[in-house]
This record gives sequence, structure tokens and C-alpha cells, in this order.
Amino acid sequence: MKKQVSDTFSIRNTMIRNRICVPPMVVYNWSDGSGYVDDKHVEHYRQLAHGGAGLIIQEATCVTAEGQLAQTQLGIWEDGQIAGLRRITQAVHAEGCPIFVQIHHAGIVGIAEHALCPSAYQLGDKTGAEMSVEQIHAIQQAFIRAAQRAYQAGYDGVELHGCHRYLMCQFLNRRVNTRADVYGEHPEQFVLEILEGIRKTVPEDFVVGIRLGAFEPTLEDGIRHAKILEQHGIDFLDISYGFTEEQETEKPAGFPYKDIVYAAGEIKKQVSVPVFAVNGIRTPEDARGALELTQVDMIDVGRGSLANPNWTADALAGRETDTCLDCSVCQWRIDPARCAGRLLHEKRQK
Ligand SMILES: Cc1cc2nc3c(=O)[nH]c(=O)nc-3n(C[C@H](O)[C@H](O)[C@H](O)COP(=O)(O)O)c2cc1C
Ligand code: SF4
Repeated sequence: MKKQVSDTFSIRNTMIRNRICVPPMVVYNWSDGSGYVDDKHVEHYRQLAHGGAGLIIQEATCVTAEGQLAQTQLGIWEDGQIAGLRRITQAVHAEGCPIFVQIHHAGIVGIAEHALCPSAYQLGDKTGAEMSVEQIHAIQQAFIRAAQRAYQAGYDGVELHGCHRYLMCQFLNRRVNTRADVYGEHPEQFVLEILEGIRKTVPEDFVVGIRLGAFEPTLEDGIRHAKILEQHGIDFLDISYGFTEEQETEKPAGFPYKDIVYAAGEIKKQVSVPVFAVNGIRTPEDARGALELTQVDMIDVGRGSLANPNWTADALAGRETDTCLDCSVCQWRIDPARCAGRLLHEKRQK
């Protein structure tokens, strides 16, 4: 049957009210450096939920203070953070929208002086030192505890941040992870043990998915990782880019969307769990076209939803969707007040 943007479906017991997802997108100037939620976060997610999205995945939220990408990134590393996070889930649920939180550790890309990495690896001027097995187990526990806190805070699930060069991605990419032990022989082992640990500690209906690199380093690897994760009970696969410096991207000539949208479609052919596609989807026509061409289950509309938080409601009602203006550097993470797309959208609303 032809997939429609307006279709509802469920992941475990979580009802997804249409096929548009707001993917995780960090903002760095709303926090005070403690990793605690501010009123601005609550209002931002309430607004996105009110705007009709089928699902929201909250921005990368760090599982340890040392694993942060920026000092003002949201955190889920201590129990005191739960109350603020609960304000977000309550605001979003009151608008009838489910919400997952992306749990994250930056690894070698992070701000820590001695950044963690599965193996000795040089990234620009940063040298990652190989993690000890004790360090690996400690970070795995941090992910598991973060998922428990996410459950306590009222999220419908978590998305493991397994792409975009961060720690899990570093484990999954054999050009970065050159370890001689089981974590190198089986690059998925680090993630699988976290998945297993989370499953043991949260109720059965709590969703556990992953944002996974499609080209890690090749699409063949991405497909293999997807299949292994499915065999081990992952609930959804949100497909994006992998470790930028160590990936071989591909798409056939004439494919009208981004290479990772193509890759999401190729992964969808091989698994039966829900697959999400992302990048460069700006208009309702893009969303419909990408759904039809790839047969994925969910389309992420990221910057489009930042510029117009009502993007989904407008699309479903057949209204004009103001959208992202593709600034050369997205200003949102630095300061949402600088988002030219949002400013234009607000002007048009007046
Ligand atoms: C401001 C900003 C912050 C982002 N933060 C995250 C993040 O926290 N986690 C993540 O996986 N991707 C992050 N991304 C990537 C987006 O989720 C998305 O994959 C990307 O913007 C491409 O989709 P789009 O063309 O619909 O915007 C971010 C992107 C932007 C623009
Ligand atoms: S309009 Fe510019 S600042 Fe706003 S979401 Fe798009 S790229 Fe980011």
C-alpha cells in the first residue's frame, strides 16, 4: 500500500500520528553550562509538538559531563536533571505528540582535554587515546543510566546517537576503531551491550532506536550494522551520515534526494523495523516523493521545522510551508534568534 505522510503507525506501544519526525537538533545558548533544562527548551519543544509533527526526537543530550560536545549542551547524566526533562515531555505530550530523547557521548570530538576514542586516532589537532575496557564499561553504564532517567522523565523512548563522528560512530567505523579485542573484532559490540543493558532496566514498551551512519565506512557496512541491530531488537533505524572523514558515500545518477536518503531506502529493503530518512527535505512534495521512492517509514524534517515549527500542520493542510533558507552555516545552534528562516516565517504570520 502506498505510504502517505498522514499515515499513523506505532513503534512498540507508541502511536506515531504521521510520518514527519523532527530530528534531534542542538541549541547551545539556552543552557547555563549545568546541562539543565531552561524554560526556552520547554517552549521550543511545546511549539514543535503544537506544529503537528508525528514524532519529536529531542536534541543530543549528553550521558556524562565529560562527553559533552559543548559546555552548554543539555545533559542526562545526573538524577537532578530529570525534573527539567520531565517538563519537556509533559509539554509535548499535552500537545498529543510522542517524544524520544537522543542520548549522546561525543568521544574524540568532545570538549574534554583527554577525549575518549575506541583506538588511538588523530582527528585534526586532537589525538584520541585508546579506551581501556574499564572505561568502555563505565561509558556503557552511563548510557544505560541515561536511558533509565529518560524513562523516569516520561520520554516514550531513546535514540542512541550512533552517527556523525561521535563515540558510538567511532566504535562502529572500522577505520577509526582498530582495537584488537572483541570491541574491535565486532564493531557493533559496544552498542549491542548498551542495547541489552537498557532493555534489562526499562519496561517493555519503552522504545530504543538508533541514529546510524549509512556509510560506516561503506553502505555495505551500514546495511550489515542495521541487520545486526535488528536481530538484537532495535526498534527503529534513523539513518544519517557516519564518521565524515572515513566514509564512502554513494548514490545512483539521477536519484533526486541526498545520498543518505538513498541509503535509508537501501537499508529499508533489508530490514523490517521502521527506518527514518533525513537531509534536505524541505517541502511537502519532497517528503511525499522521498517516501514513495525509498519506502522508508518516517521522514525527518530538521531545519525546515526550525524555520517553521508548524511545518507538518501546514503540509498536512495543504498550506504553503515556509521553510529553511539553507544559510551557508546554520545559525540555530549558535542562537535561534539569528535564524533567517524563522524570522521570515514570523514576519509572514503577522
Ligand atoms: C542546528 C542543528 C543542530 C543539530 N543537532 C543534531 C543533534 O543534536 N543530533 C543529531 O543527530 N543531528 C543533529 N543535527 C542534524 C539534523 O538532525 C539533521 O540530520 C540535519 O539538519 C539534516 O536534516 P535537514 O536537512 O532536514 O535539516 C543538527 C542539525 C542542525 C541544523
Ligand atoms: S534558515 Fe538558516 S539558521 Fe534557520 S534553520 Fe535554515 S540554515 Fe538554520
